[in-house]
Amino acid sequence: MTDTTSNQMWGGRFSAGPDAIMEAINASIGFDKRLAAQDIAGSQAHAAMLAAKDIITDSDARAILEGLEQVLGEINDGSFAFSTRLEDIHMNIEARLKQVIGEPAGRLHTARSRNDQVATDFKLWVRDQFDAFENGLVALIKALLAQATAGFDWVMPGFTHLQTAQPVTWGHHMMAYVEMLGRDHERFSTVSNHANVCPLGSGAIAGSTLPLDRVHVAKALGFVDETGEACLTPNGMDAVADRDLFVEFASACSLCSLHLSRLAEDLILWNSSEFGYLRLSDSFTTGSSLMPQKKNPDCFELIRGKTGRVIGNLSNLLVTIKGLPLTYNRDLQEDKPPVFDS
Ligand code: ARG
Repeated sequence: MTDTTSNQMWGGRFSAGPDAIMEAINASIGFDKRLAAQDIAGSQAHAAMLAAKDIITDSDARAILEGLEQVLGEINDGSFAFSTRLEDIHMNIEARLKQVIGEPAGRLHTARSRNDQVATDFKLWVRDQFDAFENGLVALIKALLAQATAGFDWVMPGFTHLQTAQPVTWGHHMMAYVEMLGRDHERFSTVSNHANVCPLGSGAIAGSTLPLDRVHVAKALGFVDETGEACLTPNGMDAVADRDLFVEFASACSLCSLHLSRLAEDLILWNSSEFGYLRLSDSFTTGSSLMPQKKNPDCFELIRGKTGRVIGNLSNLLVTIKGLPLTYNRDLQEDKPPVFDS
């Protein structure tokens, strides 16, 4: 059914609302709700800067900051009602802010567009990812090191062309994977550093005529270099069209998955009765009712299998971006599902 009321956030000159099909394909809230915390942090930094530059009043800024805290609380405790009519996380939050604090909410979007807003939110999200999974990667590297130490003199065949080549040790083999994951660790921290350039202030594409303080916003959001200097995107058109960081992140995820997949493949081969080098524990294998002799290495087959998905996400992203004219095109909304999935 078509709702005849136009969108409350941008529908000023529209007399009819979107068709139900349009509403369904238009909405990204189903996946970009994941950016809620980053969106609110970005809005708070923007509002504080607008007040510091006397573009909005201190009392409006205070109402906005407090209102956003309340909205974040509602999202975190699960009481927030997300709406597909409001398309995305940015408009869902802003509409709720309006219900909570009334008219000052309208001033939050001064000198800002969803184009620089979403670029900022997603960069903040990528920057936080490595912190979230670094411990897991380090634990895996340590587990491989422990294996290498335990088996530093366990002689086994090394292979080329999947044929016995030269005698090596289990330790030598495990250390090869330590090297790969060490490179992954370095790559993820480089990608996290690349996230530290702030797009806010670019507006829709061409900045703003208002006297914004981009340095203030960048510092508040931690978009700084090692010396604490603010890092700002220099070209607004590039800033709203650029998705390099997300491609880099999806690429680092692909390489890391590829290393895990090769490790999984070795373990699958070595666990087979044809090789018989190792026996996997019951808790990480599955059986077959028809063929009771089998103990299947499903955990490693699934790691190998999921790697296909992660590599697919990288090409999904590259293909989505490759033909887009400058600057922002709505196709770019589709950048999030593959990156979140990776
Ligand atoms: N949900 C949109 C996205 O993720 C936000 C930007 C919308 N901008 C626009 N010009 N329609 O890309």
